[in-house]
Parts: sequence; C-alpha cells; structure tokens
Amino acid sequence: MIQRSTRFGHLLRSFRDAPSSSSSKIGGYLLASTASSPLKQACVSTNRDDEFANLDWDNLGFGMVPTDYMYIMKCSKGESFEHGQLSNFGNIELSPASGVLNYGQGAYEGTKAYKKEDGRLLLFRPDQNAIRLKNSAERMCMPSPSIDQFVDALKQTVLANKRWVPPPGKGSLYIRPLIMGSGEILGLGAAPEYTFLIYVSPVGNYFKEGLAPLNLYVEEEFDRASRGGTGGVKSITNYAPGLKALTRAKNRGFSDVLYLDSTNKKNLEEVSSCNIFVVKGNAISTPATNGTILAGITRKSIIDIARDHGYQVEEGTITVDELIHADEVFCTGTAVGVAPVGSITYQGTRMEFKTGAQTVSQQLYFTLEAIKKGLIEDKKGWIVEIDQ
Ligand code: COI
Repeated sequence: MIQRSTRFGHLLRSFRDAPSSSSSKIGGYLLASTASSPLKQACVSTNRDDEFANLDWDNLGFGMVPTDYMYIMKCSKGESFEHGQLSNFGNIELSPASGVLNYGQGAYEGTKAYKKEDGRLLLFRPDQNAIRLKNSAERMCMPSPSIDQFVDALKQTVLANKRWVPPPGKGSLYIRPLIMGSGEILGLGAAPEYTFLIYVSPVGNYFKEGLAPLNLYVEEEFDRASRGGTGGVKSITNYAPGLKALTRAKNRGFSDVLYLDSTNKKNLEEVSSCNIFVVKGNAISTPATNGTILAGITRKSIIDIARDHGYQVEEGTITVDELIHADEVFCTGTAVGVAPVGSITYQGTRMEFKTGAQTVSQQLYFTLEAIKKGLIEDKKGWIVEIDQ
C-alpha cells in the first residue's frame, strides 16, 4: 500500500507550522510564489533532497500520489503560450464558469519517465505526445505549446520531481499534461483563457490484475466514439461517458470494456483505456485509426517493433466475429503498457486466448520495456534523456 495518508498527515502538519515563503529554487528553476494553496505551502518543508521520496515502492498501483511540483503556463484566446513555470503541487483555482468545467473544453496526454540504475532519467518519444496534444487541442479549439515548449516543460517537471521517479524495476513516473479552457464563458464558445499544466505521479501496473491476463467484455449498449466525434484525439470528454460501461463490466468481474464501432456494432474499436491488437500466426492486426480510434504512441511503437521482429502487421477492420480465430489478443497504451488478454466475452460467449511465456505479446512487451528503460540500445531515437 502507498503510504498516502501518513504523508498527507505530515504535509498538513508541516503546513500549519511552515513560515510563508515567496519563492524557492530547485534544479536551477525558480519557483513561483505559492501562498494560495495549503498543499503548495506544505510541500516547501518536506525534504526534497532525498534520493527517493518516502513511499512503499514495492507496492505501487495506478493511483494519484501527490508529488512536489507541477508546471503551469497560461495564455489568452488568440495568443500563444509563452512563459511557463514550476510551482509547488497543489490545487488550482478555477472560475465556476470556466470553459472546462461547463463545456468540457480540455485535452490531456499521458507519458512516463524511467530512472536507470545510474540515476539517469529517460523519457519515451515525448515529441509524439506534443504532436498529439496539438491535434487534440486544435480539435477542441484550444491553443497548444510548441513541441519544444512541451518537451522542455516535461523535462523540468520530471527533474523537479525526480525523487518521485520509482527505483529501476519498481515502476515509472506517470506524467499527465493537460490543456483546458480555464477562462470564464457562459454561453457556449471557446474560453477566453487557457491553462497548460503538467502533474506527475509514481505508478506501477494500471490494472489490478498486474501483469495477469485481462478479461474483456464487449460493450454493445454504449459507444465510445462516433464518426466526426473526438474519439481520435485525447479530449477529456472521451472518458467520463465510458464510466457507466466500465463500472458495469467491473461489477461483473471483467477487467475492462471492448468497444465496437457505433455504425455497424461489428468492428473492434478500442478498450476504454488502450488500443487492441489481434494475433493469428505471423500476422498481427489492429483497428485502423480512422477518426474514432486513438492514435496510441504505444500502439505505433508496437507496430514498428513487431515489424522489426518479422511479423506482418496490418491496420484495418477487424470484426468481432474474427476474434474466434485469434491465437492471441493484447492491449497497448501508455498507462497499460502491453497487456495480454486472456478472454473476451461477447453476447454471452467467452473466447479464450493464449497468454504467458512464448507469446507474441510478451516478446513485444519485453522489447518495448527494455527500450523505454534504457536496457537495450535505442536504435530508433525514441529515448530522450533529461540533463541533470
Ligand atoms: C494513458 O494510457 O496514458 C491514458 O491516458 C489512459 C488513461 C485512461 C489512464
């Protein structure tokens, strides 16, 4: 268990006793004044020079662990993001009339940082997240940072929180960049102000199953995305509508929901939190990104790695009926990684797939993880090291 309550108790006690300060310095970056938030203030008195934060590193799950710093940058409608800064992690202030709260004007990203044995900090393809965030922001009528601004902000945030990056082999630091319409807007329209924000949390496995195979349920009542909608980008509005199906599936003992296309209710789309792949012999197929499916960065990387391993990879239409012939099924995503699927239940029939040692998904998983963690040579230029 993560020692969250103990840490909070300590933070809140520290807050009450802490003198107010207007700025502090870390990793060469000057931090903003943080007098407005109890948590921000509380963080100032924790020991940030420790190599590792005081966490139960052996039992990380995928839950929010507040860390020391976050990154914030604002701009007005019609302008560009210019200057961002780190500030102590804590609550932010939003008008009740903000665009994001009222009309869901927001988009997010997810990526991870890893710590090597020698203390080096690695990012995986951060430019791809920057590009995807730009696409998402554009779809949601929001400005976005440039690729360089985005990657620089990511590096600053990870470096400032480096004691929260799990020891090698224990997990990763999940990085959550967000853009939201933070300005007030009463009638439907684009907000007058935007906030780009990055926060982080140390994480382990996404699913409670850990690395055990997932059991998916094919959802037929609810759709994840529709043609012309936002399914192909990481709009915040894509996720809450799936909670009903997800909760129902979990209550029935399934790990997650597999969605079908909303037009024919026949073709595989994606799982609530990840993309899906189907393996038959030497052939690997995955639904094509045609506007309703998220262009996952792990998806794209696994396609490249699989081709390097000699598999024939095809992006196209996969009907739910074809699953019956599959040898293996697996999911990919930043949070999820590469997760084997043990079974898929469709219209009361449970189809089972090969999992475990000697599977294609395991081979691809090991290669991807080894690249991300700097354990094998990165021949593709995917890894970005953070200068310390
Ligand atoms: C990610 O994989 O980073 C995501 O954004 C999925 C989310 C449901 C955790």
